[in-house]
Amino acid sequence: MAAAKPSRRPRPQTEPNTQGPASVVPDDFYRHMVWNLRNGVVGVTRDGRIAVMNEIAYRVLGLKARPTDIGRPISEVLKDVPDVLRIVGSAFEVSHLPNRAELRLKGTGKVIGYTLSLVKDPRGRDVGATLFFKDLTRVEQLEERERLRDRLAALGEMAAAIAHEVKNPLAGIEVMAGILKRQLPESPDAQNILADIIKEAKMANVIVQEVLAFVRPIRLELENVSLADVISDAIAMADSHERRGAAKVVVDVPESLRPIQGDPHQLRQIFTNLVTNAFEAMNGNGEVGITATAVEGDEESGAEHTTGPTIVVTVVDNGPGVPPEVVDRIFSPFFTTKPQGSGLGLAIVRKIVDAHDGRIDVSERPGGGTVFRVTLPVRNPQQLFAL
Ligand SMILES: Nc1ncnc2c1ncn2[C@@H]1O[C@H](COP(=O)(O)OP(=O)(O)OP(=O)(O)O)[C@@H](O)[C@H]1O
Ligand SMILES: [Mg+2]
Repeated sequence: MAAAKPSRRPRPQTEPNTQGPASVVPDDFYRHMVWNLRNGVVGVTRDGRIAVMNEIAYRVLGLKARPTDIGRPISEVLKDVPDVLRIVGSAFEVSHLPNRAELRLKGTGKVIGYTLSLVKDPRGRDVGATLFFKDLTRVEQLEERERLRDRLAALGEMAAAIAHEVKNPLAGIEVMAGILKRQLPESPDAQNILADIIKEAKMANVIVQEVLAFVRPIRLELENVSLADVISDAIAMADSHERRGAAKVVVDVPESLRPIQGDPHQLRQIFTNLVTNAFEAMNGNGEVGITATAVEGDEESGAEHTTGPTIVVTVVDNGPGVPPEVVDRIFSPFFTTKPQGSGLGLAIVRKIVDAHDGRIDVSERPGGGTVFRVTLPVRNPQQLFAL
């Protein structure tokens, strides 16, 4: 007699067990879980439609979340992020799916690290693909900062050694030219030449002092600092450095802005240098705008790092802007496009921002000009910063 067939075959292992977890976990759970993940998820069906897309995915890709996107063709939903569209679209064609690959998004400039995987049904057929990604922009910035710090450390050691060697001979030239000047009171020609020598030696000495000041590690004297005060002092100092001409300055820094932990002297230097550059770029015309905004718990979910509350200060000018071919170099020491510039202004700015554990970035102002954005943490854990 044939053995009685079991009325129900046990389901293959790969098939979702609808009896078990479903009874414990409500249906919505998986949807909520995916929506709230701290990584971006884009799931697509074999016929090229969006099956799932979570909040972080929308945010990192710079797209607006619309519930109606589910079921729509990926070519429509992802059309503004062609790189992502291409990667997702290739999932069913390529033999090796990328795992831990990186991509810089053209639109937002964000860097994502991603993994692409296929969704298979119990019979092993490819029914869809999933793009799983993380915003690595902050990690990239930190790496870049680390690289710059290494470069500066090597450069700084060399500059300090040279500056040190040059200091004494320069002082000697100045002293000896002074002696000679006193010995030749009757010769107006010699007096003029010697006066020039003394002036040039003094100028060279100023540069040497600047270089030494730049390469010296910053020791922060932390206090509770009002950025409104710092910024108004910085504007006054920039005014005395450079002829502001008819340039307007518009400050929008709320008095109620909470104080930050920082070194007031160093912070003033940041904004003095930025405003001076803005005046120089605008050549006596135009408008500099300075705004400060508090950002509570800048928790960019999905980013590799989260930070506490910060204050973001922007310095905007409507000058000619930074030419794209030099924008990568403007923070490097000694990079300048000005005949009289030393090229240390922005390098010092960056060093001070770093010492405060902040961030600085530069972008183009729509309509022409430059935007420098300085993000400073309200609380500064660092007491000492060395290059
Ligand atoms: N607001 C700006 N608009 C346009 N270009 C800018 C602006 N700020 C900086 N730059 C560019 O960046 C370069 C480097 O600036 P940085 O302040 O480091 O040096 P500098 O102003 O040339 O010299 P220094 O500040 O030492 O007198 C400038 O020479 C200029 O080409
Ligand atoms: Mg400058």
